[in-house]
Amino acid sequence: MKILINAGPTRESIDPVRFISNHSSGKMGYALAQAAVDAGHEVTLVSGPVTLQEPSGLTDFIRITTAAEMADVMKRLFASADLTILCAAVADYRPKIIASSKLKKTAGDMFLELERTEDIALSLGKVKRPDQMLVGFAAETDNVEFNALKKLEAKNFDWIAANRVGIPGSGFASDTNMIKLYCSDGRMLDLGCSAKLELARVMIRTLTEKK
Ligand code: C5P
Repeated sequence: MKILINAGPTRESIDPVRFISNHSSGKMGYALAQAAVDAGHEVTLVSGPVTLQEPSGLTDFIRITTAAEMADVMKRLFASADLTILCAAVADYRPKIIASSKLKKTAGDMFLELERTEDIALSLGKVKRPDQMLVGFAAETDNVEFNALKKLEAKNFDWIAANRVGIPGSGFASDTNMIKLYCSDGRMLDLGCSAKLELARVMIRTLTEKK
C-alpha cells in the first residue's frame, strides 16, 4: 500500500527571529511511519521541524516549515496515496504580516494580527476518492469523544484517532499515548495506553486490513 503520513508542528514566522508553533514532537507520526515501513508498505513522511531521526526505509522524506508548505506538499502527494494519515499539528493561524526585520520591543503591550491557515484535512477530504482512505488525529484536552466524532464527519475522515493531551502519559512529547479509534461506520476501538510505536503498529494493522 502507498501510505502518506504527516507529522510534527509547523512554524509560522512573526519576524526573522520569532515564530508561532506548538508542542508537537512528531513522535506519533514518526512511529506510524516506522510501523508502516516495517509492515512492508511504501511510505512517504512529510515532517515539520522536529529533532527526531528520519525513520529507516522510507520511500520519501520531505521536510517543511510552514502550514502553507505542508498544504502544498500534501495536496501534491495525496492523489497517489492509498492511505493518508494526518498526524501533524498544523498551525491554525499565522501572522497576517511577517515583519522583514526584527520587531523591537516597546514599553507597552503588543498585538499580533493572525489569519487562518488552510485546513489541509478539509481540503483533502473534499477531493478524496472512494478507493482512498483518510485518517486524522484529534488532540483534545476536553470532550474527547464528542470533538473527535465532530471532526470525523466534518473532515470526511474514514477514521479518527482521538488522544487526550494535557495529562501525563498521553499526547505531546510523551513516549506513550492513549488512543481511541473511531470509524465512520460507527465502530470504536479503544487501543488503551501504551508506547507510541506499539500503538502505531496496531493502528497500521487496523487501517490496512481488508474490509
Ligand atoms: O480541527 P483540528 O485541527 O483539531 O483537527 C485535527 C486534524 O486536522 C489532524 O489530523 C490534523 O493533522 C489536521 N489538520 C490539518 N490542517 C490544519 C489543521 C489540522 O490537516 N490546518
